[in-house]
Amino acid sequence: MHFGMKAHNILLLIFIALCQPAVQYAFLNRFYRSYHEQLRTQIESHSAKYKYEIKTIDMPVDHFSFSVLDTFKLRYLLNNTWQKPKDAPIFFYTGNEGNIETFAQNTGFMWDIAPEFGALLVFAEHRYYGESMPYSNKSYADLSHLGYLTSQQALEDYVDLIQYLRSKPEYKHSPVIVFGGSYGGMLSAWIRIKYPHIVQGAIASSAPILQFSGVTECEAFLRIVTSDFKIAHSNCPKLIRKSWNVIYNITSNDKGKKWLSDNWKLCQPLKNTSDVKQLISYLEDIYTNLAVVNYPYNASFLAPLPAYPVNAVCKHLTNQSLAGMELLTAIHKAISIFTNYTKETKCLNLNDSTPELGAVGWSFQACTEMVMPICSDGVNDMFEPRPWNLDEYTKDCVKQYSVKPQPNLVCEQYGCKDLSTATNIIFSNGLMDPWSSGGVLRNLSSSAIAVVIPESAHHLDLRSSDANDPYSVVLARKYHRFFIRKWIEEYRDKNKSY
Ligand SMILES: *[C@@H]1O[C@H](CO)[C@@H](O)[C@H](O)[C@H]1NC(C)=O
Ligand SMILES: *[C@@H]1O[C@H](CO)[C@@H](O)[C@H](O)[C@H]1NC(C)=O
Ligand SMILES: *[C@@H]1O[C@H](CO)[C@@H](O)[C@H](O)[C@H]1NC(C)=O
Ligand SMILES: *[C@@H]1O[C@H](CO)[C@@H](O)[C@H](O)[C@H]1NC(C)=O
Ligand SMILES: *[C@@H]1O[C@H](CO)[C@@H](O)[C@H](O)[C@H]1NC(C)=O
Ligand SMILES: *[C@@H]1O[C@H](CO)[C@@H](O)[C@H](O)[C@H]1NC(C)=O
Ligand SMILES: *[C@@H]1O[C@H](CO)[C@@H](O)[C@H](O)[C@H]1NC(C)=O
Ligand SMILES: *[C@@H]1O[C@H](CO)[C@@H](O)[C@H](O)[C@H]1NC(C)=O
Ligand SMILES: *[C@@H]1O[C@H](CO)[C@@H](O)[C@H](O)[C@H]1NC(C)=O
Repeated sequence: MHFGMKAHNILLLIFIALCQPAVQYAFLNRFYRSYHEQLRTQIESHSAKYKYEIKTIDMPVDHFSFSVLDTFKLRYLLNNTWQKPKDAPIFFYTGNEGNIETFAQNTGFMWDIAPEFGALLVFAEHRYYGESMPYSNKSYADLSHLGYLTSQQALEDYVDLIQYLRSKPEYKHSPVIVFGGSYGGMLSAWIRIKYPHIVQGAIASSAPILQFSGVTECEAFLRIVTSDFKIAHSNCPKLIRKSWNVIYNITSNDKGKKWLSDNWKLCQPLKNTSDVKQLISYLEDIYTNLAVVNYPYNASFLAPLPAYPVNAVCKHLTNQSLAGMELLTAIHKAISIFTNYTKETKCLNLNDSTPELGAVGWSFQACTEMVMPICSDGVNDMFEPRPWNLDEYTKDCVKQYSVKPQPNLVCEQYGCKDLSTATNIIFSNGLMDPWSSGGVLRNLSSSAIAVVIPESAHHLDLRSSDANDPYSVVLARKYHRFFIRKWIEEYRDKNKSY
């Protein structure tokens, strides 16, 4: 199989056109793009493991006004195979930015535990993703159609769906436990925080609810990436840091550009400085993706990869004296772990501009509520120095979507600094996961608990159990089960009267 790299999206092309300013903007979105596109590819290329019924429910486009009366069909997936006859717990996945089937297939933990809890499984699709389009093919056409893409509206969709399910006699007294990973985990935590009378508890895995201005330092994310590489070999991040100048130096003339293009087998030879910058972004994406999926067993999550792929990459980057072309040859070998593990990739495609709606949706969210600053200084991390610049970020968003980012909105809406009133939430974070930079790593209250998983990358605990899982992940899942059982029992005790 040709594994084309899909790391570059529309925003990157915009970035190239504008040159410098849009860097941080492009970075995050490129990251999300590649992540979800490859998730989807995985579903398409492997026979789906889990089965469900596909349903839809009518939803108001705008939950918060009385002037917009439009409705649309929100998609959700159901599996009632294991549910108890009456008042079965409802395990509800709060869908994130992508096709809900992808998340259903990658959240094996819910499937693993449904039988022992006699639970109904529900996976709800996030509006504006997958097939849940408020204005069909016009949903992304302009701001007047796209403006209803907010986390608040999405949470209200989930509340409506839960209330609809509970309006049926068999679920009248069903406790609801929500699950989510990444942005889906943020939504799980927030729905419990906002609607504790509707949702009894939340498993929020790798949910960076604190990755916002004034709460988390923007440097933290890429320092964790760097630290993953450093743990693999102390020279590895040093050589990667050194490689940026070597790339610029070697590609400063045509002979060097040709050498690199030939030796790295680029699909399109490097022609000018924007091509070189694109190459550098491409490498940064690969390093970041590797850290995010540094799983303990071989998997085809983002790409077919060996177990602990960061270690495999760093095996090629141990010799401190590597320099010049020798260093670049070693870097090419190293990234081939990600780009060519199957040995079937013909050439490296730095530019894959197939538009994907999911990516556009996330970049709109990143331009409105989800302003999650990420930056690098090139000293404490292995990346090129890249300060966080809200003014440039804002300019891009105005240009792209005619919207102004509201960096304080999330913390105002849901809380960041004082979450001590939160209850019945587990925040699980793998310390190897760069997104743990914005995760909740300390208990917030006696029932809003932080579970730290030292050996885990991005929401490993939500995946189905595997013989190679590190013990810390096994333990985290025990915590999840323990608290889910406790929340269900507390709910039943409270509702004994019926
Ligand atoms: C629920 O999932 C199980 C296991 O994947 C499958 O056997 C069953 O047919 C599914 N039920 C429905 C209603 O899709
Ligand atoms: C949008 O959908 C309508 C009706 O289904 C169709 O006529 C139209 O060609 C579509 N537009 C685009 C740009 O796909
Ligand atoms: C830049 O490249 C030239 C040869 O093209 C080499 O002599 C010089 O040492 C290189 N400098 C660095 C910093 O790699
Ligand atoms: C650089 O070269 C690419 C083709 O490789 C071209 O699409 C792009 O417009 C060029 N950029 C500049 C700034 O010349
Ligand atoms: C993972 O390893 C197993 C056994 O070692 C092998 O059968 C399988 O093909 C590997 N998968 C990938 C994606 O490399
Ligand atoms: C490290 O790289 C240098 C420069 O290429 C080389 O001379 C040396 O033999 C290498 N050391 C090892 C242990 O491979
Ligand atoms: C991928 O690996 C195969 C086998 O080693 C090699 O022939 C091919 O050139 C590699 N592709 C790239 C892009 O490096
Ligand atoms: C991107 O790649 C496609 C082919 O894959 C090519 O037609 C196009 O010119 C490339 N664009 C740039 C900017 O290099
Ligand atoms: C967090 O809460 C859990 C569950 O109550 C408890 O086991 C753990 O010791 C607490 N951690 C800290 C640091 O207080």
